[in-house]
Amino acid sequence: MAKILVTGGAGYIGSHMTAILVEHGHEVVVFDSLVTGYPDAVLNSKLIIADLANLQALEDCFAAYKFDAVMHFAGFIQIGESIKNPAKYYQNNVANSLNLLSVMKKFGVNKLIFSSSAAVYGEPLTIPIDINHPTKPLNPYGSSKLIFEEILQDYDLAYGLKSISLRYFNAAGADPQGLLGERHNPETHLIPLVLQVASGNRKNVEVFGNNYPTKDGTCVRDYIHVCDLCEAHMQALEVLLQGGKSAFYNLGNSNGYSVLEVINTVKQVTDKEISVIYGPKRAGDPAVLVADAKAAMQELGWRPKYVDLATMIKHAWQWECR
Ligand code: UFG
Repeated sequence: MAKILVTGGAGYIGSHMTAILVEHGHEVVVFDSLVTGYPDAVLNSKLIIADLANLQALEDCFAAYKFDAVMHFAGFIQIGESIKNPAKYYQNNVANSLNLLSVMKKFGVNKLIFSSSAAVYGEPLTIPIDINHPTKPLNPYGSSKLIFEEILQDYDLAYGLKSISLRYFNAAGADPQGLLGERHNPETHLIPLVLQVASGNRKNVEVFGNNYPTKDGTCVRDYIHVCDLCEAHMQALEVLLQGGKSAFYNLGNSNGYSVLEVINTVKQVTDKEISVIYGPKRAGDPAVLVADAKAAMQELGWRPKYVDLATMIKHAWQWECR
C-alpha cells in the first residue's frame, strides 16, 4: 500500500484514477481547487480543496501525509482558451505546478506521474506518432505541457526527482460501473457533445471542417478509454515505486476514428438520430493524430482493455443517461 497525492483528482481523469488507486489498496489524498472539478467525483478518498497557487496549503498537506508519490492531473485543458488567455495556462500549468515540485523537494517526495498530452507534438510529420517524434506545440496549452515535461527532466538531473510523463491522445469513455464520467463546463469534447445530442440535451453537433485530407474529410483522432489511461498510470507508479527511472510515453490505441465515424458509432450505440451541421475548421486542429504507443506496452507492460470505440461510447452513454 502506498500513499498517493492526486492533484486534480476531482476532474475527469483524476477521479477515475483515484477510484482505481483505492481499488488497488492505495491511500489517496486528492488536492483540487474545484474550479473545474466536482467534489462528488472523489470516491472514498480525502479531498483537500485548495489551489496549487496556495503554497501554504500544499505545505500543510505534505506535512500531514507522508506521500510515496504524486500523480499530477491538475491543469487547464482547453486549447482555444489557451490561445486567447495564455497567461492563465502558463500560470496554472507551469508556475503553479512548480509550487508542487518545490514542496515535493522540501518534503523529500521524489516520484511523480505527469498528465501530458499529444498536444506537445503539434502538426504531425509522420503517423503514427512515436515518442521520438519532434515536439512543436501549436498552442499555449501544448507548450505548457511540454515546458513542464522539460522542467521535470531538469529536476531529475539536479535533484533526483523521478517522473513519468504520459502523453494522452483523446481520453474517452467512463467508469464501466457508471459511478464516474466526463463533466466539463463548457463541454468542448466531441463524444460528450454528440451524446448530449442523443439524449436531447443539445440540438445538434457541429463538425469542425470536412475537407481534411482524411478518409471522409473529417479529423481523425485516437480515442483511448479513461480506465485504460489509468491502468497505464498504475504500471508507471509501480515502476517508480520500484526505483525505476524517468521516462515518457504515448498513450493511445493506435486506431484512428474520424469525427463522422464517432457520430455514426454514437448512433449505433444509442439508437438515436444525431442532427449534424458542418462548420469551419477549428484553429490548430491537426488532420490526424494517432499514437504509436508500443513503448508503453513494451516497457510498462500496458495492455489497453477497452480498445473498441463502441465500448468507450457505451460507457460514456451510461454516464450521460444517469
Ligand atoms: N470536434 C468537432 N465538433 C465539436 C468538437 C470537436 O468536430 O463540437 C472535432 C475536433 O475538431 C477534433 C475531434 O472532434 O477533430 C476531437 O475533438 P476534441 O475537442 O474532443 O479533442 P481534441 O482532439 O481537440 O483534444 C484532446 C484533448 C486535449 C488534448 C488533445 C491532444 O481534449 O486536451 O486531445 O490531441 F490536448
